[in-house]
Amino acid sequence: MSTTSDTGGPLLRVRGLTVGFPTAAGSVEVVKSLDFELARGGALGIVGESGSGKSMTSLAIMGLLPKGARRTGSIEFDGTELTALRERAMRAVRGDRIAMIFQDPLSSLNPYYTVGTQIAEAYRSHRKGVTRRQARAVAIEAMERVHIHDAARRVDHYPHQFSGGMRQRVMIAMMLSMEPELLIADEPTTALDVTVQAQILDLLAEIRADTGAGLILITHDLAVVSEVTDHIVVMREGELVEQGPVERIFTDPREAYTRMLLDAVPRIDDEIGLLKTTASAEEDR
Ligand SMILES: Nc1ncnc2c1ncn2[C@@H]1O[C@H](COP(=O)(O)OP(=O)(O)OP(=O)(O)O)[C@@H](O)[C@H]1O
Ligand SMILES: [Mg+2]
Repeated sequence: MSTTSDTGGPLLRVRGLTVGFPTAAGSVEVVKSLDFELARGGALGIVGESGSGKSMTSLAIMGLLPKGARRTGSIEFDGTELTALRERAMRAVRGDRIAMIFQDPLSSLNPYYTVGTQIAEAYRSHRKGVTRRQARAVAIEAMERVHIHDAARRVDHYPHQFSGGMRQRVMIAMMLSMEPELLIADEPTTALDVTVQAQILDLLAEIRADTGAGLILITHDLAVVSEVTDHIVVMREGELVEQGPVERIFTDPREAYTRMLLDAVPRIDDEIGLLKTTASAEEDR
């Protein structure tokens, strides 16, 4: 399969995306005719309160919606219509070209295998003909790239031997080893305390700058997206409230709902800024 067939268009173009679930009374739509785009090398934040459809949107892109969910509309990735792909072709896109990290890294990691084994096996499942030894070297390198110190030793540790922030780094390392063109991070820092949260956001920004991969960052927290993304999509109850460049959304929000989300921001923003400068080298266990 070709890698990047730069068609000149955006990396991702979502049109009329609707996700519905059957109910006794008919069906309920949890994502309603959503339109947005992600530029090549761009970083998009999707924000909205709990239940607004952020996760369903990302799962729809990944082709990982829960059983029974019905998806309509168009999802074009690098010129390919993902909704037209069969599961086998979609599996090749997933992980290899589009990778996702979730809120809770513990539930994504297997407690019975070392983190090195898990990164290496994920890598081997997408790269045919790679030996165990080569995959282990890739795992160590990926762990170094996400600033896990002493990676050559830590590679043989189990998930429970890592802190929450370090586990999220392991997940990011696993994702990075695939060299994806698009990263989707669904609330990657929600379970972490504010210091560690800032560090993970820095890491995502750094990876984006280094690899040129596109990023979709999902969160209920506008302060978080402003750190890392350049464009924001605001969702409420499955619908698009407004979207635009970060600066515009922050300085000139057009919808009352966005203003309400923004009202919660300054205090948290200051806090993150403060912690970033005072405690940047702390978390390392
Ligand atoms: N399997 C399911 N069957 C029916 N409805 C579902 C199912 N899964 C999720 N929903 C509903 O879809 C809506 C959107 O959920 P979604 O998980 O996308 O919200 P979210 O914006 O990610 O929220 P959060 O910030 O809490 O993660 C919610 O109202 C939820 O109850
Ligand atoms: Mg969610």
